[in-house]
Amino acid sequence: MHDGSGRILVQGLTKRFGAITAVDNLSFSVGPGSVTGFLGPNGAGKTTTLRMLLGLVTPNAGSSTINGQPFGRLGNPARVVGAVLEAQGFHPGRTARNHLRVYSAAMGVPDQRADQVLELVGLGSAARRAVGGFSLGMKQRLALATALLGDPQVLVLDEPANGLDPEGIAWLRVFLQSFARSGRTVLISSHLLAELEQTVDQVVIISAGRTVYYGPLDHLRASQSSRVLVQAADPQALVQALHTAGVTGTEWTADGRLAISGMDRKDVAEAAMAAGVALYDIRQEVIDLEQLFLQLTASQYAAAPAAWQQPGWAAPQQHGWGPVQPPPTPPPAQPPSQHGDWGGNA
Ligand SMILES: Nc1ncnc2c1ncn2[C@@H]1O[C@H](COP(=O)(O)OP(=O)(O)OP(=O)(O)O)[C@@H](O)[C@H]1O
Ligand SMILES: [Mg+2]
Repeated sequence: MHDGSGRILVQGLTKRFGAITAVDNLSFSVGPGSVTGFLGPNGAGKTTTLRMLLGLVTPNAGSSTINGQPFGRLGNPARVVGAVLEAQGFHPGRTARNHLRVYSAAMGVPDQRADQVLELVGLGSAARRAVGGFSLGMKQRLALATALLGDPQVLVLDEPANGLDPEGIAWLRVFLQSFARSGRTVLISSHLLAELEQTVDQVVIISAGRTVYYGPLDHLRASQSSRVLVQAADPQALVQALHTAGVTGTEWTADGRLAISGMDRKDVAEAAMAAGVALYDIRQEVIDLEQLFLQLTASQYAAAPAAWQQPGWAAPQQHGWGPVQPPPTPPPAQPPSQHGDWGGNA
């Protein structure tokens, strides 16, 4: 019997396809009451991991459980886990309602449940339409409706926002957050951090099958926002004054500003005033999460550098990314465009 905890546990999962290691010693856990984003670029191993979690692919090593049990030992798994994977097979001639009724019969839930879940995902008015004529976004909604049929405790969704319009993405966000707030568990994958940024509570970021960050998104953001950027009339004098005051976290940004760690803006302004150094500009560094995501996962492909990776492109400085929980495996080597030291001090 499963333990009803709503917990997903992935431990040391590894999957090789011939010479390709799609998933490499991956570990993370997901608790109830939260939405967890499973992020990584194309080919990072997201789908393979989710397929192993759902018992569709056999791992070479490691294990995964839902509610304390491997998927195959959940009894009536559709009542515990609802899943949406890529490439859903829909019978094109079947109506949405009949598609759902086929599944509800197999699951042993009443027929009326089909209409309930169609309303839940906003497809109530399309219940009698043939699925073959559905748009990609409508198919995504129907796949989610199918996953919800068994009123599951845990939702596992592989790129469910693909094909959704902005209104659909906003709707999905509200839906998943309220689903999680009711004490249930959501694990959702995407290759775009921006798509999930406002939806998820924590993230597992993978690159080439390995974890590069695992923890709350807030901590990832906070770990990056500790620098104050200034433009000073006499930056050397300011550096000297800061060093004399015991502040050693100073460095230059690519655009020539002084970046100061370990002080807030007020303290930096006061130190500059005490040293008699005029400041033209002083601001807290703004963290571009999408840029950080690109940098964290950039080592996956050894392709020719894109324009923004060429020398001279001013990448935002990153430093001290320090995940809340150290990744189970070391982060990959720094990408060539790396300026800061975030990869080396985790
Ligand atoms: N059945 C398979 N046979 C051979 N290689 C596979 C198979 N399934 C996946 N792979 C390979 O494993 C790696 C990970 O693929 P996977 O589909 O898990 O990535 P993903 O993170 O889901 O990517 P995407 O964002 O494009 O969906 C890729 O290199 C892929 O080519
Ligand atoms: Mg995939």
